[in-house]
Amino acid sequence: TYCFANEGILETAKAQIHPMDIGLIRGYGIFDFLRTQEYNPMFLQDYLDRFTRSAEKTHLYLPYSKEDLRQIILELIDKNDLKEGGIRMVLTGGVSENHFSPTKGSLFIFNEALDFPAQQKYEQGVKLLSVEHVRAIADIKTTNYAFPVWHSAQWKAAGADDVLYHWNGIVSESSRSNIFVIKDGKVSTPDNHILHGITRKRTLELVPDTAIREISFPEVLAADELFITSTTKKILPITKIDDHIIGNGKVGPKTQQLIKEFAAMEV
Ligand code: PDD
Repeated sequence: TYCFANEGILETAKAQIHPMDIGLIRGYGIFDFLRTQEYNPMFLQDYLDRFTRSAEKTHLYLPYSKEDLRQIILELIDKNDLKEGGIRMVLTGGVSENHFSPTKGSLFIFNEALDFPAQQKYEQGVKLLSVEHVRAIADIKTTNYAFPVWHSAQWKAAGADDVLYHWNGIVSESSRSNIFVIKDGKVSTPDNHILHGITRKRTLELVPDTAIREISFPEVLAADELFITSTTKKILPITKIDDHIIGNGKVGPKTQQLIKEFAAMEV
């Protein structure tokens, strides 16, 4: 496969990064992740908007315009024959003399195989393990996922599929997805201390009267239906938090309907 590295397209295996890049030694960098369907980079404009916004907010210099990035992505889809796959854009903090201050970083754009949850998980729902945590500078898509990577051993041992972050009794999101709560037919989702997901945005288009508000942890446990949203999970039902069963333990009708409506949005 081919990737884009700094100035041009080359074989992915030949892409390199300097060992002193603060992306590596301090975890300072940004990324974004989108996917293709039938060779089409889905919702590309939204991902480009978020990526360039992340660069601005982290004071990282991005030497390409959104239009340049779009052209690079289209060229990679073509060169790699990427009918259905993930595309990751990464911008590192760069090599700096004091090993701390951002400089001119490296830009990489490459593709990854997609690994959607099994069909059975959409039909039966999955379990999240709750953990007291809140992401730092949560609305910027930084490359720092040290906590969730480290913590994943714990949720795997608990037989969960991912985590639910809560802090001071308020929920925010999962490790790589946003959360939605349904109670008495009313859909709600948090807005603070989250990454504003593109899949969340699409879901809000499907349910325009969603309440965007603070949601407490007890409210999540008392929900009729729960689901998480992300590029790699789409709309995935949650039927258990820790050992607590959500609703009647089955995937609810509203979630089922949204899974169908989202699938229809993709084509
Ligand atoms: N993660 N919250 C966090 C912390 C995320 O990392 C992600 C995406 C989301 C959902 O955003 P979107 O709907 O735009 O994918 C929410 C990507 C998939 C990743 O980590 O690769």
